[in-house]
Amino acid sequence: MTDHILNAYNIADLREIARKRLPRGLFEFVDRGTEDEVSLRNNRDVFQRIRFKPRTLVDVSGRSQEVTLFGKQHKMPLIIAPTGTAGLCWYRGEIELARATAKAGIPFALATGSMTSMEEIAEKSGGGELWFQLYMWPDRNLSHKVVERARAAGYKALLVTVDGATSGNREYNLRNGFTIPFSFTRRNVTDVLMHPRWLAGVLARYVLTTGMPRYENYPSEIKHRITARPMGRSMMRNDSLTWEDLRVLRKRWPHTLLVKGILHPQDAINAADCGADGVIVSNHGGRNLDGIISPLEALPEVVEAVGKRITVLADSGFRRGTDVVKALAMGAKAVLVGRSTLYGVAAGGEAGAARALTLFREEIDRVMALIGCRSIAELNPDYLHAPDFPVRAGEPVARPGLKLLDTAKAAER
Ligand SMILES: Cc1cc2nc3c(=O)[nH]c(=O)nc-3n(C[C@H](O)[C@H](O)[C@H](O)COP(=O)(O)O)c2cc1C
Repeated sequence: MTDHILNAYNIADLREIARKRLPRGLFEFVDRGTEDEVSLRNNRDVFQRIRFKPRTLVDVSGRSQEVTLFGKQHKMPLIIAPTGTAGLCWYRGEIELARATAKAGIPFALATGSMTSMEEIAEKSGGGELWFQLYMWPDRNLSHKVVERARAAGYKALLVTVDGATSGNREYNLRNGFTIPFSFTRRNVTDVLMHPRWLAGVLARYVLTTGMPRYENYPSEIKHRITARPMGRSMMRNDSLTWEDLRVLRKRWPHTLLVKGILHPQDAINAADCGADGVIVSNHGGRNLDGIISPLEALPEVVEAVGKRITVLADSGFRRGTDVVKALAMGAKAVLVGRSTLYGVAAGGEAGAARALTLFREEIDRVMALIGCRSIAELNPDYLHAPDFPVRAGEPVARPGLKLLDTAKAAER
């Protein structure tokens, strides 16, 4: 591992390396949110409203962060979120990321919109557990064909993303003009020329081998019809998706079925009723709807609604081990990370992704030791102090200036 990666002491350091390496248009696509980026900021801000309330003199010498998800044991309570962009951050970046993930002993979720085909990832990813993310297209048959391919290629879970009825309003993307397939505008070309390492190490390598990067999982019926458009403005999104589509997928998909992008407890119940094995409480990393609640704010109610029936996972905004442990203490069984490992891949391919995962592992381990917790299963809201934030559903919130009624005493009166 090269020095610049080893000298990254946290995810923010990896982000800084990525910022320098990637063309601005691509970096902004990875890094930014939507509209005024209120959701993006709030995803991070909420973590500060929750603090740890440690236990002490607990023998934590044998602590473990292993978790069991859907019957399979994993080394950390982390999953790589689907992003479809690793292959632009680094040449064959999805394979690099999948290999780092396999070595770390956690699942890797591949996006429908990846630049490497799901079959090739399955072949070259080093034998880790692979999950597949699905965006349904208006023509359901095309989506069902992709699902069938994922099954045949050995993917163990299907994540159906349900928070993208239409694309987020990413104005920065309209300004910087970054598109897939790559389009040659004066601004784009200047941007790329100013990042010669990316031009030579990523774009030129694609052009000289497989051609311009494109969406390799798209069925041939649509793959070649796609014209350049700002990143994230896919003409293939489906705004007519309903719970019935989920029921149909349940019948077609024999393995773990997850619904990604749930924030309302009733939707979590609907997902469970349709036969989903789990939900991912997510606001898409603050990329789709601005002014949306953060997953942490939604988590307590979702956990209360379905936590005993199905597995609740969470993502959006996780950059530190402390963030992960807070969500786990609130009832999430594991956390997905998107940008954190993308910064790693952009900084140094597999080594950079591995560095991001090592940072999470070390940070989670340190938090567990310092709060006196031996296993992920032991985590619960008692480890948290959050007077102005509900960390468990139904919990009364003491806000500054407001006094809580002592309900027990009130009942006696
Ligand atoms: C560059 C980028 C591309 C993404 N593409 C997809 C996608 O194709 N499908 C999907 O379900 N989620 C996608 N996401 C959302 C992630 O799966 C995940 O919900 C989000 O990144 C979590 O927030 P974080 O980046 O703060 O960890 C994308 C996220 C990023 C940053």
